[in-house]
Amino acid sequence: MNETIVSGMRPTGKLHLGHYLGVIKNWVQLQEKYNCYFFVADWHALTTKYDNTEELKQNTKDVVMDWLACGIDPEKSTIYVQSLVPEIAELNIYLGMITPQNWVERDPTLKDMAKILKTKEGQGTQVNYGLMGYPVLMSADIMMMNSKYVPVGIDQVAHIEITRDIARRFNNLYGEFFNEPEPILNECSLICGLDGNKMGKSFKNDIKISDTDIETSKKVMTAITDRSRLRKDDLGHPDECEVAFKYWKIFGSDDEVKTIRCECEKGLRGCAQCKRELGDKINLCLSEIREKRRYYEQHPEIVDEIIEKGSQKARIKAKEVLQNVRDLVKMY
Ligand code: TRP
Repeated sequence: MNETIVSGMRPTGKLHLGHYLGVIKNWVQLQEKYNCYFFVADWHALTTKYDNTEELKQNTKDVVMDWLACGIDPEKSTIYVQSLVPEIAELNIYLGMITPQNWVERDPTLKDMAKILKTKEGQGTQVNYGLMGYPVLMSADIMMMNSKYVPVGIDQVAHIEITRDIARRFNNLYGEFFNEPEPILNECSLICGLDGNKMGKSFKNDIKISDTDIETSKKVMTAITDRSRLRKDDLGHPDECEVAFKYWKIFGSDDEVKTIRCECEKGLRGCAQCKRELGDKINLCLSEIREKRRYYEQHPEIVDEIIEKGSQKARIKAKEVLQNVRDLVKMY
């Protein structure tokens, strides 16, 4: 019996290449070896976006379509939506009862989120009860499938620590049942944004998985290159090229990278030409993924069915775990 993995993403809308290279590619590999559950954390989205739910449904679908396009296979992995597995909410109650307040209060990720909220909405913004419960709900997500491993970014590790503490406390109080889940660190995404900073939707420096070729090419033309280079026949410094050459190293073959380095250093390759070719290269690398993405866009009923079926499957496992929990806690 394969070990179980759970991971989730908040429905932030269409995903970008940072998500693909840093997270989803990892998941695609994991699904070959593990019993994987991947879900859209729509309740977690409400912890901060409770006042803006207009796009929640579409964002959830967009995330799932991006996963499918990138190769998450519903035959191998269980794809579901958190709020379609209400058992998680019940588990969240039991876990909340045994989680000391100071465990959530000292969660560094939560402190950061509270800070961002405060600056965004002006002073005096409350941290809601639901946001305080973020790590407990996340523990419920993970423990609902009695997961052994959780692939996450480094920023989420503090949350997994709390999950381990909660699982241990549950086991001590009611009897050994839950795994103490361990993080599997996502390889840090190599790809920076078009401006050289971390790629992020809110920084407007991202290339979306679902962008068209034309959109991609246009965006790539804005990428920062070697700032010291003014004319196209100036000798270039690929290692000081802030974005374009880094992208080549991700998307190009070894030979291509070698040729480009050589031509750039000799002043035989202007930055505009270089970025035109880079845009074409990225589009070529993404062509299959994008074709698949378009297929799902044109067949939303297939996406709905995948979500529906996956959520049903997740509920079967969730019900089984919940029955055990209810028995251990000695509920009626
Ligand atoms: N907090 C995670 C994030 O923002 C999303 C998430 C919610 C999650 N529940 C989870 C990730 C359970 C892994 C396991 O990225």
